[in-house]
Amino acid sequence: MSSRPLVHTAAEPVADLEHVSRVYRMGQTDVRALDDFSFTFRQGEYWAVMGSSGSGKSTLLNILGCLDRPNSGTYRVRGEDTQGLSDDDLSELRSRHLGFVFQNYNLLPQLNVLENILVPIFYQDVPPPGIEERAKELARRVGLGTRLEHRPTELSGGQQQRVAIARALINDPALILADEATGNLDSTTAQEILALLDELHAEGKTIVLVTHEPEVGKRAQHLLRLKDGRIEEVRHNRAPSGGPSSSNTAGTGGAG
Ligand SMILES: Nc1ncnc2c1ncn2[C@@H]1O[C@H](COP(=O)(O)OP(=O)(O)OP(=O)(O)O)[C@@H](O)[C@H]1O
Ligand SMILES: [Mg+2]
Repeated sequence: MSSRPLVHTAAEPVADLEHVSRVYRMGQTDVRALDDFSFTFRQGEYWAVMGSSGSGKSTLLNILGCLDRPNSGTYRVRGEDTQGLSDDDLSELRSRHLGFVFQNYNLLPQLNVLENILVPIFYQDVPPPGIEERAKELARRVGLGTRLEHRPTELSGGQQQRVAIARALINDPALILADEATGNLDSTTAQEILALLDELHAEGKTIVLVTHEPEVGKRAQHLLRLKDGRIEEVRHNRAPSGGPSSSNTAGTGGAG
């Protein structure tokens, strides 16, 4: 049995949404892609985001990743309010705190593996010392140490996604965002990518993973189910203390 205390202090908020709405105007009607959405993702948590097509998963991820802004409400990254930030400041914040893994990998075709891993660094005024060595180390970590000179077209889908993961890690981000990261991969390769995410979670990374697949969703510690831009369900697959799993429905607030 665990000897850990029963009462644990909630971990630091990494991404904090308060009454966030994202509305798309389509002709005469408004589509509320996110509707008065409040939630807190905390340090070290691994969340799967599920829900039917159009429920707002990508919209949520885009806002978490500062690729899009809310129409109303507050979004804070590590306590920093994003509302007043210029586009340049947002890019800076993105490159310092956030790592992205997309379904289509989003690698730059004209760059090789090493250069692609270094892309987030281009947004910083001064490259951190030793960054190229770190990029090589990450390439080795994801099993591409001997592919540094290859371009994306010279790699398999799984290899491309591993480059994307290494790229997401280059700045040691607070939050890793993955939208259908295994959607284009065969099941064996998908398992490898998920194992890599498990490892990162075990190391203390905070991960938010959008997926359609229940099997993938089960890998995460917690599940957030969306419906019509709102929270339909919050489920804890595994309690952080190793205790019994539990579930509760929307309205009870964020994670912990
Ligand atoms: N650029 C846009 N313009 C207008 N409406 C949009 C836009 N992007 C998303 N929407 C609408 O917002 C809602 C949420 O879309 P979102 O892409 O977040 O869904 P999703 O849960 O990611 O779906 P999927 O599982 O199909 O990827 C949908 O009704 C969609 O039609
Ligand atoms: Mg989507």
